[in-house]
Amino acid sequence: MPTIAVFDSGFGGLTVLRALLPLIPDARFLYLGDTARLPYGAKSQQTIARYALSSAAFLLAQGAQMLVVACNTASALALDELKAALPIPVIGVIEPGAQAANALARHPSSLFPLPSSLASVLVLATAATVQSNAYTKACAALGLTIHEKACPLLVPLVEEGWTDHPVTAEVLRIYLAEALAEAPSVQTLVLGCTHYPLIKPLIERVLRELGHPLHIVDSAAATAIAAAKVLPAVSSEGEAIPPTFYATDSIEKFQRLGSAFLGQALPEVKLIDLGG
Ligand code: DGL
Repeated sequence: MPTIAVFDSGFGGLTVLRALLPLIPDARFLYLGDTARLPYGAKSQQTIARYALSSAAFLLAQGAQMLVVACNTASALALDELKAALPIPVIGVIEPGAQAANALARHPSSLFPLPSSLASVLVLATAATVQSNAYTKACAALGLTIHEKACPLLVPLVEEGWTDHPVTAEVLRIYLAEALAEAPSVQTLVLGCTHYPLIKPLIERVLRELGHPLHIVDSAAATAIAAAKVLPAVSSEGEAIPPTFYATDSIEKFQRLGSAFLGQALPEVKLIDLGG
């Protein structure tokens, strides 16, 4: 069985693991949430790359044969360094997310007819992801027009468990109203942060209130599919076992909040120290 490592700065990447589990049921999964150093989204490229590389080195030492970078910020700012440093396949979330948005925009007949204006997308992400222009590059390569909006307050609100809270709704109202004023023609919204799927119902509600419903792309499923495609390149041996969870800070908080991201209770979580 292949050993697949999934890495995020915190809990958000569990939404990607949730998509991976049914898709690759016979794999051994390792999940690392670098909760002690979260948020990555407010830090510099050098720091994000350093954190991502040390997290990846730990997972490699645990036997990882593939790394899924289930963090938009680490994917946006450290994917090239990770690919250069690791002797295993590395999958990020940006490209699959952009491709999912493109599929929605370009191949409407496969599901249901959609207007061509879907080719204009809004990406909500952390400040570091927006500054990196990673989504702009990935979407531009596919011919999509893109508007990016940094939403720095959303990660702390989700981390607090305020996924259906009036304060989170008000913050979303402000961010979305600003973004839609700047890019009124967008019809597709990419959730460019692995924390945001947890507030997708709230985002949909606020968009309806603003009178501007959007088609929402969550890159978790697209990333899982991209990882499954790379699998044949990974050697398989051993027997399937349940996922192993690692975190660099409070195990209790990881188990409590992580279950909402994973959609099921988390068993044991191992505390590890990756330094500062
Ligand atoms: N996991 C990060 C992302 O997807 C959000 C949390 C953070 O800022 O570390 O961008």
